[in-house]
Amino acid sequence: EPDETQAAFDRIIERHDRIEPRDAMPEKYRATLVRQIAQHAHSEIIGMQPEGNWLTRAPSLRRKAILLAKVQDEAGHGLYLYSAAETLGVSRQELTEKLIAGTQKYSSIFNYPTLSYADVGTIGWLVDGAAICNQVPLCRTSYGPYGRSMIRICKEESFHQRQGYELLATMMRGTPAQQEMVQESVDRFWWPALMMFGPPDADSPNTEQSMAWGIKRDTNDELRQKFVDMSVPQAERLGVTLPDPDLRWNAERGHHDFGQPDWDEFMAVVKGGGPCSAQRIAHRRKAHEDGAWVREAASAYAAKERQP
Ligand code: ACO
Repeated sequence: EPDETQAAFDRIIERHDRIEPRDAMPEKYRATLVRQIAQHAHSEIIGMQPEGNWLTRAPSLRRKAILLAKVQDEAGHGLYLYSAAETLGVSRQELTEKLIAGTQKYSSIFNYPTLSYADVGTIGWLVDGAAICNQVPLCRTSYGPYGRSMIRICKEESFHQRQGYELLATMMRGTPAQQEMVQESVDRFWWPALMMFGPPDADSPNTEQSMAWGIKRDTNDELRQKFVDMSVPQAERLGVTLPDPDLRWNAERGHHDFGQPDWDEFMAVVKGGGPCSAQRIAHRRKAHEDGAWVREAASAYAAKERQP
């Protein structure tokens, strides 16, 4: 009975319990999860590129080892997330093809260039900081495999955030040129980091339904506010300024007031018009094509192993 199935689904959602792959679920719930999890997985994979740009130019062996480990962690996050998406009946191959065809999105933030080594620190501090703000509540998302994948991802993201902060703190104890490099990097990344949380709630077509289904646990604006409140004391401690003249503590609200990012820029970047959008996709497409022989060899080997 379809109504029985819907009622069983609704009861699980109301109890804030988990939907598992074998449970019946409305088609739109499944499609929304595939959309969000795929976009999330693609972000982890594309997100290797901006920082990967500095691997060969890290200033010391220690920094290089840290950065290498971090970029590898992002690959791992992408793979857990593709696996979570596969429990919904889509394959990694299919999702990758949609990414390189430009029909599935990935986070806007990874379309900005990394122009200085300080960007590695800023990405850790602000970009991974924003990712944690958004992803910790997703540990409680209503779809079991997605929520469970978030637990380990968030632990690793916390480590990434601290390594970024530590890198910037080290540079801020350095020469005036290093301090300027940090400030210039923070100036470039602050607004794009705020955009990571998605459009304002009033312009977010998916939030209401995703909250009702327990896929999202907080709205875009709630998480953006949390991120601003968290970042201000960290910026003070570092000794950098955040490039927002409207940023100030509001004692009545118990939160910081802050300015709005350029939402036209956001929309342009989301539609594929970011400064590095074409380059990111071209790079991913080439890696996919160059890796075809590895996939073919692995499949041929697996088929041979299956023969008696
Ligand atoms: N970059 C690119 N696209 C975005 C962004 C962004 N920063 N924010 C929103 N969008 C897209 C949405 O995917 C949606 O697209 P679609 O409906 O055409 O598929 C559209 O803009 C409208 O946005 P919302 O209705 O607010 O979409 P949603 O409810 O999915 O909320 C959010 C967006 C908050 C990003 C949500 O999908 C989410 O929490 N995703 C999981 C976290 C994630 O993907 N993080 C990746 C970056 S962090 C990292 O990888 C290190």
